[in-house]
Amino acid sequence: MTSPNLSIISARPTSTAGLMAQTGLNEDVLFELVHRFYGKVRQDRLLAPIFEERISNWAPHLERMVAFWSSVALMTGRYHGRPIPAHVPLPVNAVHFERWLALFRETAGEVCTPAGAAHVIERAERIAQSLQTAVLEASAGPGAMSVPD
Ligand code: HEM
Repeated sequence: MTSPNLSIISARPTSTAGLMAQTGLNEDVLFELVHRFYGKVRQDRLLAPIFEERISNWAPHLERMVAFWSSVALMTGRYHGRPIPAHVPLPVNAVHFERWLALFRETAGEVCTPAGAAHVIERAERIAQSLQTAVLEASAGPGAMSVPD
């Protein structure tokens, strides 16, 4: 066992320290959460093919996802990317998002304190909803969701 990484690399160190204290989350917990979660995803019959077709080198994806969760859960500002365009072309619907969330909730319960799990699950649900809306709007075609004149 390595000792927990309690150093704070954050664009907003005071907010990050407060969130860490409230939730028990830190970079080590988020590393474990992400690695365990994608371990499950890669065993999942519904989700695995979608990932395996697009990700040939998992190390940079996992590193990006730890940075993403660090930004989302601890406000560190470590992630710089655009999740929506990455998901719009994927062959996914509500069933895929529900499975993704089920695996995420399960993993969060295994890895985080109850407060930490509640914190990341609440954010995952919100982001999944907005990604799903973006995928649906894109598949409905250009202008399908726009307000008529
Ligand atoms: C149906 C469920 C989902 C599937 C199948 C899925 C699949 C993928 C795939 C294949 C990529 C890699 C895209 C690429 O590099 O070409 C990706 C990237 C990513 N996903 Fe998901 N995803 C799902 C849901 C989510 C949710 C709910 C979140 C957030 C809570 C999320 C966050 C991200 C982020 C941050 C990236 C990196 C985007 C970037 O910076 O390039 N995904 N996802």
